[in-house]
Amino acid sequence: MGYIFAASNFKGGCGKTTTVLNLGAALSTAEKSVLLIDGDAQGNLTAALGYTPAEQPRTLSNLLLAAIDYPEDLELHLQRAILHTDSGVDLIPANRRLADAAARLQVMQLSQYNAVGDVDRACEKVMATMLEQLKELYDYIIIDCGLKHELLTVNALAASDYCIVPVQAHFLASEGIPDVLELVKSVQEKFNPKLKIAGILLTMYQSRPQLCQSVRASVGEVYGESFHVFQRPIEYSIKVAECPAAGQSIFEYAPKNAAADSYRSLAEEVLALG
Ligand SMILES: Nc1ncnc2c1ncn2[C@@H]1O[C@H](COP(=O)(O)OP(=O)(O)OP(=O)(O)O)[C@@H](O)[C@H]1O
Ligand SMILES: [Mg+2]
Repeated sequence: MGYIFAASNFKGGCGKTTTVLNLGAALSTAEKSVLLIDGDAQGNLTAALGYTPAEQPRTLSNLLLAAIDYPEDLELHLQRAILHTDSGVDLIPANRRLADAAARLQVMQLSQYNAVGDVDRACEKVMATMLEQLKELYDYIIIDCGLKHELLTVNALAASDYCIVPVQAHFLASEGIPDVLELVKSVQEKFNPKLKIAGILLTMYQSRPQLCQSVRASVGEVYGESFHVFQRPIEYSIKVAECPAAGQSIFEYAPKNAAADSYRSLAEEVLALG
C-alpha cells in the first residue's frame, strides 16, 4: 500500500505545483512508482509535465464524477485517464472542467444523503474512494491542491496520509500557514484521523537576503516545536522557473542545480516517513 500526500497552502504562488512535480520526480529517480494528481483547475501541473490542459479528454473531473455516478465503471475510467509522462511519473491531469466536479460535490453537500451522516459516502470522501484502488498500484500518490474550490482540497486531505505545506521564504507568505493547519485539523477530526502534517517546506529560498533567513528562523520558532520543518529549504533558481516551459522536472532540465539537490533532500525525508 502506497502513501498519499497533498501539497496545500491557500497562499497563491508559494510553490505547491513545483513541489509536487519535483518531489514526484525525485521519488521516481529513487525507483519508487509515483502518481501525481493535478487537483487545480488551472492545470499548471498538467502543463508543467508537457500537456495542454484544455486538450485533455479525460481528467480528474471525469474521475470524480465517475466515482459519484458510475462507481462500477471507475476502474475503466482510471485506466484511461492516467498519463505516463516522460518524467518517470504518472499523471491524472486537470483543466478548467474541474469546476464541474467541484460544483457536483457542492450539490452533494447540500443534498440530503450527506445529512444522513454516512461519512464514507460523504461528498468530502469522493477522492478517497477514487484513490482506494490506486493506492495499491503506486508507492506514492501526490496531489497538487488548488486555491479555489475548498471542497476539492478537503477531498484531497481526506484522502491523504500526509500534508506538505510549502511556504515561500518571504515574510507575508508565511501568513498562509495558520489557515492550512486549521483546515487539516478540521479534516482530521471529521473525516480522516490518520492525516498528518509531514512538514512545512520553505521554497524559493535565497541564502543571502536577510529576509529569507529571518522567515526561516521565525517559521522554526513559531511552528518548529509542534510541526516538522523540512531540513533543507528549496533554493530559488531561475532554472526551476524555466522547467514548466520545457515540460520537464528539474532532474531532467538541470540535474546539477542546487534546487535539484534540495528536492532530493526533501525526497529523502519523505522516504524516511514511510
Ligand atoms: N525554487 C524556485 N525557484 C524559482 N522559481 C520558483 C521556485 N519554485 C517555484 N518557482 C516559480 O514560482 C511560481 C509559483 O510557483 P508554483 O506554481 O509552484 O506555485 P503554486 O503554489 O502552485 O501557485 P498557485 O497558487 O497558482 O497554484 C512559478 O512561476 C514557479 O515556476
Ligand atoms: Mg499551483
